[in-house]
Amino acid sequence: MKKLTYKELRTLWFDFWREREHAIIASSSVVPENDASVLFTNSGMHPLVPFLMGEPHPSGKRVANIQMCIRTGDIDEVGNATHLTCFEMMGNWSMGDYFKYEKVRWSYEFLTDKKYLGIDPERIFTTCFEGDEVAPRDTESAKHWEACGIPKERIFFLPKSENWWQLPSGTGPCGPCSEMFMELKSGACGPECNPSCSCGRFVEIGNDVYMEFIIHAKDEKPVKAKQQNVDTGMGLERILCLSQGKKSVYETEIFAPAIEIIKNSAKLKELDGQNLFMARRIAEHVRAASVIIGDDVIPSNSGQGYVLRRLIRTTLRAAKSFDVWDNDAFIQLINFYVDFLGEFYSQLMQKREHIIKTFMDEVSKFEKTLSTGLREFEKVVKFLQGKELSGKTGFRLYETYGFPIELTTELCAEKGITINMDEYHQAREKHSKASQTAAVGAFKGGLADTSGMTTKLHTATHLLHSALREVFTTDLHQKGSNITPERLRFDFNLDHKMTPDEIKAVEDLVNQWISQKLDVGIKEVSLDDAKKMGAIGIFNNKYGDIVKIFTIGDISCEFCGGPHVSNTSELGSFKIQKEEAVSAGIRRIKAILG
Ligand code: ALA
Repeated sequence: MKKLTYKELRTLWFDFWREREHAIIASSSVVPENDASVLFTNSGMHPLVPFLMGEPHPSGKRVANIQMCIRTGDIDEVGNATHLTCFEMMGNWSMGDYFKYEKVRWSYEFLTDKKYLGIDPERIFTTCFEGDEVAPRDTESAKHWEACGIPKERIFFLPKSENWWQLPSGTGPCGPCSEMFMELKSGACGPECNPSCSCGRFVEIGNDVYMEFIIHAKDEKPVKAKQQNVDTGMGLERILCLSQGKKSVYETEIFAPAIEIIKNSAKLKELDGQNLFMARRIAEHVRAASVIIGDDVIPSNSGQGYVLRRLIRTTLRAAKSFDVWDNDAFIQLINFYVDFLGEFYSQLMQKREHIIKTFMDEVSKFEKTLSTGLREFEKVVKFLQGKELSGKTGFRLYETYGFPIELTTELCAEKGITINMDEYHQAREKHSKASQTAAVGAFKGGLADTSGMTTKLHTATHLLHSALREVFTTDLHQKGSNITPERLRFDFNLDHKMTPDEIKAVEDLVNQWISQKLDVGIKEVSLDDAKKMGAIGIFNNKYGDIVKIFTIGDISCEFCGGPHVSNTSELGSFKIQKEEAVSAGIRRIKAILG
C-alpha cells in the first residue's frame, strides 16, 4: 500500500474525484442544520439529504468532500487503538447520475491502482446485499467486482444487518450497500469466517451505498425513490493508519503530537496499559470537543451541549487518573488541533480563543463539582450502615452533584464498600423515562421526514429571520435553526430579552407577509453575485462557488438548501410560543404555524 501523509491523502481523494468530473464541496457543520432527528452529522450524506431526495444540488450531480463527523455510540470504548467519536469521512456522491457500473470500477481503481492507494488486490474482499422482501440480492455489484478481478471466493453476500445503510433516525434516503475490506492476516478463523467477522482478520476500508430507496416516516417500509444515488464513505483516519503501516490511528500525525503533549504533562517516560488508554481518550475527546465548540455548541444539560459536557468531563477524569497533571496541557492540545485542522476547517482558526475559553470554563466548573461531590460522598459513607451503598444514593450523587457513578464505584472500592448497581440502573431508568417523554417531540422528524409541516416551518423561519432584522437591526443574524414537524426553533444574536410588544411586532410582520401571498423563488448564482444581492444566512461557502438562494417576495433573500413552499399563503398563521436566552447575547424563539 502506498505510504501517504494526511495532506497527501486529502489531496489524492480530491484529485481522484475532480478527474472524474465531481465538484469538491466543503464539510458542513457537525451540528445538522434544520434536522432535529439526530444530534450530530454522522456521515457525509447527512447534510446532502435534500439533494439525495431529488432537489438539484447547485454544484451538479457529482460531488465529493471530506466531512467531519461525530458518532458517540461507542464512546465508552474510546481509548483503545481504533475507536473515535470524531472522524473525517471521505465521500463522493452521484445524485441521480452514474450507478453501480461506474462506482464499483472507480472504488477498485482508487483502492488498488499504484497511483492512488495501491493496496495489493489479493488482499481486497467485498460484501454485497443478500436480498430481502424490499430489495433483491445485489448480484449486479458482485458481477462488477468480479469483472474488476476479485474472485467469487472473496465476494460475500450478507444480510441487512451488515449490508444496508440508513440514517439513525430511520427515515430518508437509504439502500443496500457494498463494503470493501482489507485482509490483515491470512487464514479464516473457522468455516463461518467472513469480512463481518470480529476475529481481526479483516478491516473495513470503504462503503458504497446504492441509495435507490426512501423511508418517508419512521417504521415505514422503504419504497423505491425518484432517483438512483450513490453515497460513499471511507474513514480517513483508518486509511491513513493502514497506509503508514501503524498499529493505531494515534500513531499517525493526526494524534501523535497530542499524545506527546499528554505524556509530558503526566511526566511519564513511556505510556502503556491504562496510561496509554487514558492518554488516547484525552487526545480523542479534546479533538472532538474542539470541533464541536468550533461549530457553536456550548456545554449544557441537553442535546449536543450535553454530549460536549460529557466529553470534557470524561477528559478531565481521564487526566486525573495520572499521578501528575497540569491543566495547561488542555490548552496546548487545543492549540495543536486548531493548527493542524484549521487549514481545512477555518472556523477552528477563527474561534481559537473561544474554544479554549469554553473548554477551560467547563473544566473549572467540573473541578468544583468534583470537590463538592467528594465532600458529599464522604458524608454519605460516614453514616453508612453496613457495607453497601444504595443505588439510589449513587444516582443522587450523579444527578445532584454531577458525580459520575464510575467515580463513586472507584471510591467505594477503595473503602471496601460495594454499590447496588441494579438499584442505580433502576433509578436512572426511571429518571430518563421521565425526561425522554419530555424530549420525544424534539427528536421526531427532521428534514429527512418529508411531512409538509417541516417545509412550511422552514419557509416561516426565513420570514421570522427577516422580521427580526426589520424590528431590530440588520446586525441580527441566525445563530442556529432546528425544525421538527411540530415547531421551528431559531437562535439569533440580541442583547436583551424581547418585550411583549417586540414579540407582537415580529409576529404581526410575519403574518402580514403570509397574508400578502408572496411567491417563494429559487435562484442559483455565483457566490459573488449572491453577496451583491445582499443574501443573508449561513453559507460557509458550503456548496462550492455556485450557491442556491431562496427569495420571498422582496422581503427575504437567503442562502439555503431548501425545501420551501412555493407561496406564503400556504403557511396559515404564525405564533411565537417562547422567547428565551441560550447564552450571553444569544436568544431563542420557538414558534408554530396554526
Ligand atoms: N453513508 C455511508 C456510511 O456512512 C457511506 O457508511
